[in-house]
Amino acid sequence: MQISISLDSNSEHSLQNQVFESIREQILSGHLKSGMLMPSTRILNEQLSVSRNTIILAYDRLIAEGYLFSKKTVGTFVNPNLPEDSLMLMDENSKNTIKRVQDKEKSTPKRHPVAFQGRVQALFNPYREKLDVDFWVGRPDPQSFPINIWRQLTLKNLSHSGSSMTEYHDPAGIYDLRKAIADHLRPARGIECSPEQIIIVNGIQEALNVVSRVLIKQDTPAVMECPCYQGAAYVLESYGAKLHPVPVDSEGLDVNLLPDKETALAYVTPSHQYPLGATLPLERRVRLLDWARDTGAYIVEDDYDSDFRHQGSPLTAVAGQDRYGYVIYMGTFSKSIGAALRLGYMVMPEELVEPARTAKALMDNGHAWLDQAVMMEFITSGAYLKHLRCIRRTYLSRRDTLIQELQNNFGDVQLSGLEGGMHLVWHLPESLPEAKEVQQVAQDAGVGIYSLPAAAAHDFGKKGYRERALLFGYSSTTEDQIRDGIARISNALK
Ligand SMILES: Cc1ncc(COP(=O)(O)O)c(C=O)c1O
Repeated sequence: MQISISLDSNSEHSLQNQVFESIREQILSGHLKSGMLMPSTRILNEQLSVSRNTIILAYDRLIAEGYLFSKKTVGTFVNPNLPEDSLMLMDENSKNTIKRVQDKEKSTPKRHPVAFQGRVQALFNPYREKLDVDFWVGRPDPQSFPINIWRQLTLKNLSHSGSSMTEYHDPAGIYDLRKAIADHLRPARGIECSPEQIIIVNGIQEALNVVSRVLIKQDTPAVMECPCYQGAAYVLESYGAKLHPVPVDSEGLDVNLLPDKETALAYVTPSHQYPLGATLPLERRVRLLDWARDTGAYIVEDDYDSDFRHQGSPLTAVAGQDRYGYVIYMGTFSKSIGAALRLGYMVMPEELVEPARTAKALMDNGHAWLDQAVMMEFITSGAYLKHLRCIRRTYLSRRDTLIQELQNNFGDVQLSGLEGGMHLVWHLPESLPEAKEVQQVAQDAGVGIYSLPAAAAHDFGKKGYRERALLFGYSSTTEDQIRDGIARISNALK
C-alpha cells in the first residue's frame, strides 16, 4: 500500500522530521486508521526517493513515541492505543469525523533536540532492481574490478601483517601509499606535491567533511557551481556554510560571476563538471586562480572522474597550475576501481596539512590499514596503470556506441560532457517532454536514465537546468545493453 507524504527538500526541517510529522498528523487526524498495516520502510523509501535510513529513523521515532508498533516478521502497524494524552474531540462541522487534537505539552515526552540537520545525496539507485538497462551515473563496470590481483595482494599483506592489523597508524594514512599517490599524480595530473601533503580519506565525501571541519563555521561563505554535486552542497550546508551558487555554462563555471567578497572556498569540478560535463578551459582556470589570490579563498578541486579523458589533450589539474598553494585537491578510487572500497585522498596546501590530519584523526583515527597496503602495492606494481588503460578503452567504446545510438534514434541530439568521465548529458529538444517525464517513460520501459535531482545533482532551486537535461552513465552498461536501452526509450516515446 501507499500513503501520501509530500517532502520539501528546501525545507529547514530534515526529511526524517518531515516524514515523522506527516505520518503523526495523519494518524492523529484519523486518516491512517488504528491497527492499519504501514508500508514497509523499503517501499516508502522508494516511493519518496529518500534513503531507507531516513524512513527507518522516522519509524523508530514513531514507535518510540507510541504512534506505531511493530510485530516481528509481520510488519509495522498504527497503534490503537495512541499516546494517552491525545484528546478526542468531535469535529463541529461533521459529526462523523473524529479529530484527535494533541496537547503537545503533555504528549511529547521531554527529549533533547537533535543537533544535526542534514540531507542525503542520491547516490544509491532505488530503482535498480526493476530495470533491465541502467544508465546510472558514475558506476565502474562491475566486471572490471581487479578481483584476482586484489585477492592476491590482500592475502599477501595479511600474511605479512605482523602487528599492523592490531595497531593504530598515522591518521593521515600509511606513508608508502601517500608516496605512491604523489608519484602517480605528478605525471597523471601535473601535480607536484610531497607525500606529507597527502591525506588518505574514506572517499571524496570524507575529504569534503575534513575540509568543512577545517574551514567552515556557521555562515561561512562558500562558492558552489550551479548545478553541482549534491554530496558537496549538502555536506558544506550541514556544517553551516552559506552557499553562493555561481552558474555553469557550456564551458563550466562562469568565472566572471565569482563574488568579490571574502569567501572561504570555491568547490569546483573542472575536469568534467558535475553534472553537466564541461571541461573548464585554460583561461577560466587562470581566472579562477587569480580570483582565489585576490579574495584569499581556497579552491576545492573535486577531480572525481578525471582518469577518463576521451578526447582532446590531457589537461593538467588546476592544482598542477597553482603556484601559490590555493588549491585543495581531491581524488578518489571510487570511479577507477570501485566505490565500495571507500578510498580516496586529498592534497593539502602546506598550512592546512596539520589541521586536516587532526580533523581526520578526530573523525576516525585513519583509514583501514589493509585496504591502504593493498592499494599501495596495486599502484606501485604497475597494475593500476594497466587497469586504467584497459577500462579507458572499454568506456570510450561504450561512450561512442551511446552517442551513435542516440543519433540513430533521435537525429541531431544536443549532448555535453563527451570529452571525459563516465557519463554524458542529453539536452532534450523542445519536441520531447521535460526530463522528469522522459525519465519516467524510460523507467516504465525498463530503462534507467536520470534527470538532475535523481542523479545527485543540486541546482539551488534554479529549475532551468533540471527540466531539460538527462544524464546517461555509460561505464557499467555493455554495448548491447546500450543499443537495447536507447531503442526501448525511442519506442516508448513514440
Ligand atoms: C562529483 C562527485 N564527487 C565525489 C563523488 C563521491 O566520491 P567518493 O565515492 O570518493 O566519496 C561523486 C560520486 O558520484 C561525484 O559525482
